[in-house]
Amino acid sequence: MNQQPRVPNEIGVKLDNVTKRFGAVGAANGVSFGLEQGHLLALLGPSGCGKTTTLRLIAGFERADEGRIEIGGQLVAGPRQHRPPEKRRVGMVFQEYALFPHVNVWQNVDFGLEKFEKSRRRQRVGEVLDLVGLAGLGERMPHELSGGQQQRVALARALAPEPDLILLDEPFSNLDAGLRVRVRAEVRAILKQAGATAIFVTHDQEEALSLVDEVAVMLNGRVCQMASPQKLYRQPVSRDVATFIGDANFLPGESRGRQIETLLGTLESQVPVDGPVDVLVRPENIEISPAPSATHVHRVRQQLFFGHDQLITVQLASGEAIDVRLGPAYTFAINQPVTVRVRGPVMAYPR
Ligand SMILES: Nc1ncnc2c1ncn2[C@@H]1O[C@H](COP(=O)(O)OP(=O)(O)OP(=O)(O)O)[C@@H](O)[C@H]1O
Ligand SMILES: [Mg+2]
Repeated sequence: MNQQPRVPNEIGVKLDNVTKRFGAVGAANGVSFGLEQGHLLALLGPSGCGKTTTLRLIAGFERADEGRIEIGGQLVAGPRQHRPPEKRRVGMVFQEYALFPHVNVWQNVDFGLEKFEKSRRRQRVGEVLDLVGLAGLGERMPHELSGGQQQRVALARALAPEPDLILLDEPFSNLDAGLRVRVRAEVRAILKQAGATAIFVTHDQEEALSLVDEVAVMLNGRVCQMASPQKLYRQPVSRDVATFIGDANFLPGESRGRQIETLLGTLESQVPVDGPVDVLVRPENIEISPAPSATHVHRVRQQLFFGHDQLITVQLASGEAIDVRLGPAYTFAINQPVTVRVRGPVMAYPR
């Protein structure tokens, strides 16, 4: 968060084949990605896939075995090079906020500013408390704040020294569901207003998809795909990524170019493929309607009603089950025969 104007498209952070082993465990197995300055990235993946390790490598708390890391155009880790954390201009926000419990909000935010000149230091604490909407609460002690307010203090403290990069490790997991949605929207707005480059770690997909400009999916210590939330959801590069992001039905198919023959008729493939494939069909891209039992043998097996939508499991004539997402208005009886139609082009993965 330098004060000088930003050059568009400048790289905020770049990792090149970064590797970190703990004994026999490869926690990072060649992590590579680049993030533009001022963009927000979510690092999404199952437990143990290496998300925290990647953040710690970027921050400098871990030393990479191999690979290179650049922050704000400067090499901070590379062959025989390891810049210590305090020289990396990186701010961190952790799951448990890590506020100092015995000093007030103002002093918590002031903590990392000893390099600032005195009057600038006072001004800066005021600025960031203002930015996070806590201007009047400098005198409060951390225990006198709500969970959401504590999270904003933690964010203010990370932003205060004007770092080049902010890293947030599961920052919302301490908050209950309702507060969480509100706080993450606030945090996004604050980071955007500050022009920050930031990486969030989360294993909550909805959080990742709704919060950031780009999502990187990590599986087994590696980034499998990095893309906008929309692209990642619509065009996952592999079956594994598709399964990890959102709900996925897979149907067997036989593809020629963009035409795939499946149990549900001929579907259009988003990308040309030849041969046997697994076809990804999202539950919301399936339509079902009641059918006379004499002609149709797909049947409703289960109906899970959530309020804003519902998930209906249909057993196909072939025996396979698929999930269908519908609005709340539809009612189907268990065992009801239905016709099934897939809407729009699909993704297919060679088998
Ligand atoms: N200091 C360490 N010593 C040994 N193994 C470690 C260490 N830190 C992490 N690991 C191992 O490295 C792998 C990646 O761990 P990491 O903490 O990066 O996962 P994560 O993606 O953050 O998981 P979670 O979602 O559960 O927080 C795991 O198998 C973990 O057990
Ligand atoms: Mg972790």
